Amino acid sequence: LSGSVGGARALLAAIETGILSPRILLDPRVNVNLHYTDLSNLDQRLSELVIDLPPEDEILYQLIDQRKYGFQNTQSNGQRGKEIFTVACAACHRVQGEGGEIGPQLDGIGMRGLDRLLEDVIDPNRNVDLNYRASRVELNNGEVIVARVLSQEGQVMILVDEEAIERRIPLLEIKEHKRLNRSSMPANLIDAFSEQDFYDLINYLLNQRIEPLGK
Ligand code: HEC
Repeated sequence: LSGSVGGARALLAAIETGILSPRILLDPRVNVNLHYTDLSNLDQRLSELVIDLPPEDEILYQLIDQRKYGFQNTQSNGQRGKEIFTVACAACHRVQGEGGEIGPQLDGIGMRGLDRLLEDVIDPNRNVDLNYRASRVELNNGEVIVARVLSQEGQVMILVDEEAIERRIPLLEIKEHKRLNRSSMPANLIDAFSEQDFYDLINYLLNQRIEPLGK
């Protein structure tokens, strides 16, 4: 997309209006391609978009590269990976009919390949499906909840927070509600795993190659 002038323009517009995360501009490939395209005041627009991003983003790129290399050079065990998935991920994700439905179901996720899978797991904020964006909800009593809005039933908002716990909040108690430009999948999940756990988990996910029936 960022390779042609029209594509670059669409990309920047999508970022400026919040449809895409500005984080993708940190991807070295995207950035180089944008520079080929000779858009007017590109550098200024780029730096305005990237300026708010935390330095963690670059660390995530390095981590993805390092884990990719590690995965390709380490034995991993999908059966153990399945156990890790059950503990760490299944509260929100369904695979082969088991697990929660807060995030998308992951049947067939292995077809996306290693690169995309690593991005999705290590850096969930990079490709956020609009439906799954997190919201920041501030209550009258000062409490702030970061969660995904599931629905509204009458005068009650139904949210599910990062621990996958459902909360029902009367609209009257809500002071402010803002959609955030980030995923409702927690970004630090993998901090909880050893490297070996992580490789086992990726092995398991890469082997999910059967699309669900009726899709
Ligand atoms: C608190 C809920 C929650 C937990 C726990 C969670 N996820 Fe997610 N996950 C989500 C949500 C919501 C999305 C969709 C938003 C997005 O794309 O970032 C998502 C997206 C994904 C995607 C991309 C799916 C797609 O169709 O684009 C993958 C892959 C994924 N998660 C893997 C995992 C793995 C592996 C774990 C465990 C280590 C995990 N998730 C734990 C909520 C969760």
